[in-house]
Amino acid sequence: MSGNNIVLEHYDPDKTYNNQKRFDCENKTINKFVAGSLKKQVRQNLSQCFVLLDTTNNDRFIGFYTLSSFAIDASELEVLSKGSLPSRIPCSRLVMLGIDKDYKKKGLGKLLMQSAMLKTIGAAEQIGIYGLFLDADKGAYTFYLDHGFIPLQVKACPKPTPMFLHIDTMRSSLKK
Ligand SMILES: CC(C)(COP(=O)(O)OP(=O)(O)OC[C@H]1O[C@@H](n2cnc3c(N)ncnc32)[C@H](O)[C@@H]1OP(=O)(O)O)[C@@H](O)C(=O)NCCC(=O)NCCS
Repeated sequence: MSGNNIVLEHYDPDKTYNNQKRFDCENKTINKFVAGSLKKQVRQNLSQCFVLLDTTNNDRFIGFYTLSSFAIDASELEVLSKGSLPSRIPCSRLVMLGIDKDYKKKGLGKLLMQSAMLKTIGAAEQIGIYGLFLDADKGAYTFYLDHGFIPLQVKACPKPTPMFLHIDTMRSSLKK
């Protein structure tokens, strides 16, 4: 944890969070999702969410990520050079991640990333999970590269870039 005033907790869709509706990570799609769809998505068991609260600011909702299960075509993972695989590969997916603009560049995104990796490693002890998948927005691409994610498309493209982090890479990076 980056400080005693910030807590990370499992999101409860029946709880009202201070500032959830006004959460602003400077990404319109993510802000809209947090204000309008997050509660429903968690209630429907489509994702699990983990949220950062600032206890010195009335438990303000200052960051979050959502995780879900996912499956990816083995052909998309050829770049990892892991040999022959079944055609569909089970993985977890980091669907959304955001830190409120007032709290960026303080290590909180990294904290959430490490938490998502730990959840994935924990789940992989119970069911088969080959790694963590995500679609990176242009602004966060380098952030994910720094966390060891490998782009699954080589071409530069205005659309989000699919990226992947193998479970063994995750395990070794968290041991460091
Ligand atoms: C991406 C995001 C979650 C990072 O959160 P953050 O709390 O500012 O990140 P941190 O402070 O933990 O940064 C960790 C490291 O990544 C770097 N970093 C942070 N944001 C970065 C970015 N956009 N591009 C490149 N590097 C970045 C930091 O400099 C830091 O490097 P260091 O460890 O060498 O000092 C945040 O900028 C955000 O909410 N962005 C808008 C929403 C978004 O794009 N979400 C992802 C959608 S795919």
